[in-house]
Amino acid sequence: MRKAAVIGWPIAHSRSPLIHGSWLAEHGIAGSYERIAVPPGEAGQFVRSLAERGLVGVNVTIPHKLDVLAAADEPEESARLAGAANLVWHEGGRIRCANTDGSGFLAHLDLMAPQWRAGERRVMLLGAGGGARALSYAFIAAGAQSVTLVNRTPAAAERIVADLSDAAYRQRVRLQVSAWDDRSRIVSDRDVIVNTTSVGMKDIGSLGLDLAHAHPRTVVADIVYVPLETGLLADAKARGLTIVDGLGMLLHQAVPAFERFFGVRPTVTPELRARIVSDIMGR
Ligand code: ATR
Repeated sequence: MRKAAVIGWPIAHSRSPLIHGSWLAEHGIAGSYERIAVPPGEAGQFVRSLAERGLVGVNVTIPHKLDVLAAADEPEESARLAGAANLVWHEGGRIRCANTDGSGFLAHLDLMAPQWRAGERRVMLLGAGGGARALSYAFIAAGAQSVTLVNRTPAAAERIVADLSDAAYRQRVRLQVSAWDDRSRIVSDRDVIVNTTSVGMKDIGSLGLDLAHAHPRTVVADIVYVPLETGLLADAKARGLTIVDGLGMLLHQAVPAFERFFGVRPTVTPELRARIVSDIMGR
């Protein structure tokens, strides 16, 4: 029986077992997927011993995404350039890792708002934490025309641009930083706007982003999924813009992980989404 898990600290609220458990049942696979609480500082050691623990691999959440990247023998480009890994597995005696957060976000964006690829593909990311870094890499790989990072603390955004500049150059993507105070002014010539900051989570402030001058084709997305409709998304919706919520990223980042662990590529169905939504609402 193939065994996989999600590791984090704390881990009790992770929805990954619900997602993977639903797919195991749907495909009649005799596998298991559990939650394992791994204290800070111990994740590197943990993933080095996956085989001894009888695990094919693990998903990784806060605070371990950087430590497991450092502990892996062969990080894929997605993890190296995102500077973090959310998927670790062993293969041929080697520990490998990848980052599927960014590609999961893109998969969901392509489903919900495929028109973004047909336009000029100018992307604006609010924030410069791990989420912004993973999305910057994913948008570069997806062939955006430009990716503009806007962060309250500009130095963090400058670091992402410096670290990803080679990848952006190879893909001919303009990767740049704009001033936080200019965020509302540059909205008018963006095709995709994504909030990757923690603003929007329950009771945590407002971004102060004015969407009044957004083009009607602009897609507005959030990686926050509690609440499902953040203040930013509610505002965009009221203005008739296409919105993409953060739950899609959570669901779609799990697809390549499940395929890696159990050998079947699963689908994100409306039923699965509804099950996770009701779990989130119930807490
Ligand atoms: P993660 O790695 O999970 O993405 P993080 O590193 O804590 O999270 O990043 C949080 C992001 O939210 C940062 O870009 C942070 O901005 P700073 O770099 O200036 O700290 C942003 N953020 C958090 N609270 C914010 C607020 N009240 N206004 C604007 N940005 C905020």
